[in-house]
Amino acid sequence: MATSPAQTGRVLITTPIYYVNDRPHLGHAYTTVAADFMARAHRLLGREVFFLTGTDEHGEKVAETAWSRGLTPIEHCDDVVAGFQDAWQALHIDYDRFIRTTEEDHVNGVTKILERLHEAKTPDGESVIYEGDYKGLYCTGCEKFLNSRELEDGRCPIHPNREVREITERNYFFRLSSYLDTLKSMIETDEILIRPEIRKREVLGLFGQGLDDFSISREKVEWGIPLPFDRSQTAYVWVDALSNYITGIGYGNHPDNYRKWWNDASVLHLLAKDILKFHTIFWPAMLLAIGEKPPDELFIHGYLTLVGQKMSKSLANVIKPDAWVPEYGVDGARYLILTLFRFGQDGEIKEEMIREKYNADLANDFGNLVSRASKMVLGNFGGIIPEADFSGPEEKALGEIIEQAEKTFAEAVDRVDPNQAIAAALSIARETNRYFDHAKPWARAKEKDLDGLGVILGVTLEAIAKAAIYLFPALPTKVPELLRSLGLLDDEIADRTGKGKVVAALVGREIQKGPALFPRVEKQKPKPEAPKKETKPTDGVISIDDVFAVKLKIAEVIEAEKVEKTDKLLQLQIKIGEETRQIVAGIAEYYRPEDLVGRMIVVVANLKPAKIRGIESNGMLLAAKKGKELRLLTPDGEIRSGASVG
Ligand code: MSP
Repeated sequence: MATSPAQTGRVLITTPIYYVNDRPHLGHAYTTVAADFMARAHRLLGREVFFLTGTDEHGEKVAETAWSRGLTPIEHCDDVVAGFQDAWQALHIDYDRFIRTTEEDHVNGVTKILERLHEAKTPDGESVIYEGDYKGLYCTGCEKFLNSRELEDGRCPIHPNREVREITERNYFFRLSSYLDTLKSMIETDEILIRPEIRKREVLGLFGQGLDDFSISREKVEWGIPLPFDRSQTAYVWVDALSNYITGIGYGNHPDNYRKWWNDASVLHLLAKDILKFHTIFWPAMLLAIGEKPPDELFIHGYLTLVGQKMSKSLANVIKPDAWVPEYGVDGARYLILTLFRFGQDGEIKEEMIREKYNADLANDFGNLVSRASKMVLGNFGGIIPEADFSGPEEKALGEIIEQAEKTFAEAVDRVDPNQAIAAALSIARETNRYFDHAKPWARAKEKDLDGLGVILGVTLEAIAKAAIYLFPALPTKVPELLRSLGLLDDEIADRTGKGKVVAALVGREIQKGPALFPRVEKQKPKPEAPKKETKPTDGVISIDDVFAVKLKIAEVIEAEKVEKTDKLLQLQIKIGEETRQIVAGIAEYYRPEDLVGRMIVVVANLKPAKIRGIESNGMLLAAKKGKELRLLTPDGEIRSGASVG
C-alpha cells in the first residue's frame, strides 16, 4: 500500500503544469481549485503541505505560436503565464510554488534526470536509454511529424498537395518494457494508488494492449532542454514536463528539500483522464529507472463539459477561470467549482444549476443561519455571545452530529473527495439550522427567558464556527470575514488553516454588524435593449460589432531592418495614410528587409502598443501561415495606403 498523508503527516499535492499555448479556462481552474482545497484541508487536519502547480512551456507548438504573434518564445510564455497567475490570484489559490519549465533550476534538474537515465541500467542489466529510430509520418510543409489523427484522407490538412512521408529520425528511447511487470503489480497492489477505481482498471487494461518503449528526445525541436549526452537533441516535452514534480521541490538543486517532500511525504498527483497514461505509466517508470520512488497516489478526475464537449480552447467552448467571481464572489466561485460535480465524474455546466446551488447552500443554509443567530444576539444580548452549553439533550445530540461530521470530513479528504468533505462541513450548518428552528429561540425571546435563549444562541454560534472552520478550505475569504464578525481577532484566525484558536473562545465576544455573508443571487432579467455583443459567445462566433472593433488598414512599408540578436524579428516603419508608425513582426525567416520596402500590407491599426524585445510595436501586420510557409496579405491591385479593409 502506498503511504497516505495520515501516515506521514506530510503531503505533496500537484496539478498538471498547464500548456502555454492555451489561455487559462475553467477546466484548468477545476484541477487547481481542487488541489488548493486539498492543500488547505490537509493543513486543517494538521498535516504539513507543499502545493505545486505551474506551466509547461517548451515544445515546437509553443515556439510556433510565439513567432506567429511576433514574439520570441519566452516573451510569449511570460505573457501567457501572467494570465495563469492572475487567474489563480483571482481564485485565491495559495500554492507554495508556481514552477515554470523555463526556469533555471528546472532545466538543471531535468539535465540531471537525463544524465541519470543515460547512466542507468534496468534490473536485467541493460541500459535504460538506447538509440533507435523514431518512425513517423512527416509533412515536409509543416516540417514536423503528424499523428494519424491529424491526417485527413492520409494527407496533411494544411498541405494537402504535398506528400506525407514516413520518415525516420534518430532518437533516444526509454526501455519501458523492462518496468512493465513491476509497475503493473505496484498498481494492482495499490502501492501506486490510482483512484477512482474505474481509472485503475483502465490503466491496468493498458498493460494488456501493449505498451511500447517511448522516445525521450526530438531531433528537430529547438525550444526545449538539450540532452546532456547529445546536444543535437532536446528532451521530449513530456519528459521535461513530468520532471517538474520533482524539480519543483528541489531535485538536482536542493537535495534536503527534495527528500523531505518526495521521500518523507505522501505524494498526490491530481489530473484529468486526458493525460492518464503519461502519469500512471511513463512517469512512475522514469522514477523507478533513476532509483526514486513512484508517486503514492494519483487521482484522476473528470471533465467539465459544455454542451456535452470537454471544455478546451481547440473546441472554442471555454469559460474564463474566474468567470463566476463577479456574480458569486471568490468563495462562491470556488464553492461552485468544487461542489457542482462529484470529483472523478464529468460534469456539464448549466447556468441555472449554478445559481440554484449557490442560493440553496451558501445563501440559505449557511449565510441565513449566521444572520438569524447574529441578529438575535444583537437584539437580546447587546451583541455579546452567550456561553455555549452543550449539556442539554438537544445540544448534546447536535454536539455528536458535529463530531461525526468532523470525522466524515477527514475521511473524505483522505480519499480525495472534496465534494463529500464540503458536504460534511455544510451538514453541520444544516443540522444547526434544524436545531435552531426546533428550539424556537424567538419564543424564548418573547417569554424573556434569557437563560434558555442564551443556550440556543451560544450553541448555534459555536456550531456555526465549527462549520466555518471546515468550510475554510472552500471559502478562504468569507470564513475569516465571518469569524471576524463573531468578534474574533485577526491573529486568532489568520493562520493558513483558518483554524486559529477559534474553537475555545466565542463566549463573551462581541458580534460586529456586517453585510450579508452570501447575498442571494437573483435570476438576471433579460435586458431586451442590451446590445448583442455583451453576451460573450462560447462557440467561437463573434458579432459584427466585434468585427468592426478591429480597424484594418492598408499600409506601405517604407523602411525595414532586422532586430538585433534575433533570427525572426523585423522592425518596420510603415505609413498609414499620412501617419508613420513602427511595428515589429516575426517574419524575418520569410522576407528579406530589402524586399519589403515599398510593399503594401494589411495591418491592425488600433492594436494596443506593445514592447517586443524592448522595441515599441504599434500595430500588427496580417500574414497567412501554415507550418513553415508564410505569406503577407497584400491588396489585390493598386490602392492607396490608409485605405480601410473590411
Ligand atoms: N502540459 C500537459 C500536462 C503536463 S503535466 C506533467 C497538459 N496541459 S493542459 O494544459 O492540457 O492541461 C491538462 C489538464 O488541465 C487536465 O489533465 C486537467 O487537469 C485540466 N483540464 C483541462 N481541461 C479540462 C476540462 N475541461 N475539465 C477538467 N479538467 C480540465 O496536458
